Amino acid sequence: MKKIAIGLQPSLKREEATLSSGVLFDPATAQAIKRLGSRFALFCDETVAAALGRKWHDHLKKSGLDITLFTFPPGEQEKSRERKNLLEDALLAKKFGKDTCILALGGGVTTDLVGFLASTYCRGVPLVFAPTTLLAMVDAAIGGKTAVNTSSGKNLIGSFYPADQILIDPGALSTLPKAQWTNGIAEVIKYALIASPELFQILRNWKPMDPAYLEMIIQECVLIKAKVVEMDYEEKSGLRRILNFGHTIAHALELLENYQISHGEAVAIGMLVESFISVRMKHLPVSALSDIESLIRSFPFALKISSEVTEEDMRDALLLDKKSAKGAVRFVQLSKIGACHPFNKEYCSSIPEETLDEALKWMFSLFSEGEKS
Ligand SMILES: NC(=O)c1ccc[n+]([C@@H]2O[C@H](COP(=O)([O-])OP(=O)(O)OC[C@H]3O[C@@H](n4cnc5c(N)ncnc54)[C@H](O)[C@@H]3O)[C@@H](O)[C@H]2O)c1
Ligand SMILES: [Zn+2]
Repeated sequence: MKKIAIGLQPSLKREEATLSSGVLFDPATAQAIKRLGSRFALFCDETVAAALGRKWHDHLKKSGLDITLFTFPPGEQEKSRERKNLLEDALLAKKFGKDTCILALGGGVTTDLVGFLASTYCRGVPLVFAPTTLLAMVDAAIGGKTAVNTSSGKNLIGSFYPADQILIDPGALSTLPKAQWTNGIAEVIKYALIASPELFQILRNWKPMDPAYLEMIIQECVLIKAKVVEMDYEEKSGLRRILNFGHTIAHALELLENYQISHGEAVAIGMLVESFISVRMKHLPVSALSDIESLIRSFPFALKISSEVTEEDMRDALLLDKKSAKGAVRFVQLSKIGACHPFNKEYCSSIPEETLDEALKWMFSLFSEGEKS
């Protein structure tokens, strides 16, 4: 069993991730959770409840926990203030108090929504994350960010609230639908590109059916995210921006596709375009771009932009990026496979308009359905 201590800031509680196949059903886990409260509220979406949640609830109950299961419909639309209110009312109706420990079992929607709920319930109660998607294991459950969406945008209302325990059981991925895997794989590739040439090599020999291999990959990603977050908790310096590699293009594309493109698809395209920009800005050798492209193409990404989206739309949407400064879009750029250019600790930089034009042309010529028809 691997323990990964994620030291956030000295004044804050520390996150601890435990990574091991079977950790959810390990008797020692139930005993460790038991110490966090006297009543336990387990939250998961209905799909996860059917796949694993009810079983985990029954197991914890048998282990002596006073535990109640709360479920809600699956989907990003549930990451809302309305759903948070409903779940809080359900807890209040059952008279859950300050002695409650909240468990969030599921993907990033669940960890974000339920993590935020835990941060405000009785002004904050103990929290356990048990991520069940690859994306949540390597990203959403790590680093203490929680949030809900509003009609004005994603993740606009939330808190920094690190979980007391993060239980990463790769065994939970056995029921994860194929389409969900690519969302996690895109983030795993991102970690390799920004911080780990070794991980990049390991990904060239992808063996998701091998539990030891999966565990090794997840561990590497968690360590990278933990290290970045540790050095830049609350995003006060620029370092945490490197986690945004590929996401400047991806967020603009997701918006223009009305979120009908999956996050992983958008990030895969985004990483390619931002690697192209790194090459044009002479930070990354051109041979690296072809290595990155062949790795990304070795996974089942569709790499398609629908014909309605235009280069002009992209240029406008990019200006909404939170890294934009004085009307110029700023990009995280690679200096090699496994490292980002520091840009004087800003870790992102604006680029000439011609370079952006060239990058968007390249992007649309390769991926736009419109250009191909
Ligand atoms: N807080 C952060 O730092 C952070 C980082 C990255 C992403 N996020 C957030 O994460 C969310 C996306 O997370 P996600 O991709 O995990 O989505 P998700 O939580 O919606 O899960 C995806 C789907 O898979 C199903 N599912 C989950 N685990 C399963 C399993 N083991 N077996 C069968 N079905 C399973 C769920 O029911 C859901 O339908 C977004 O809202 C994003 O903003 C947060
Ligand atoms: Zn992402």
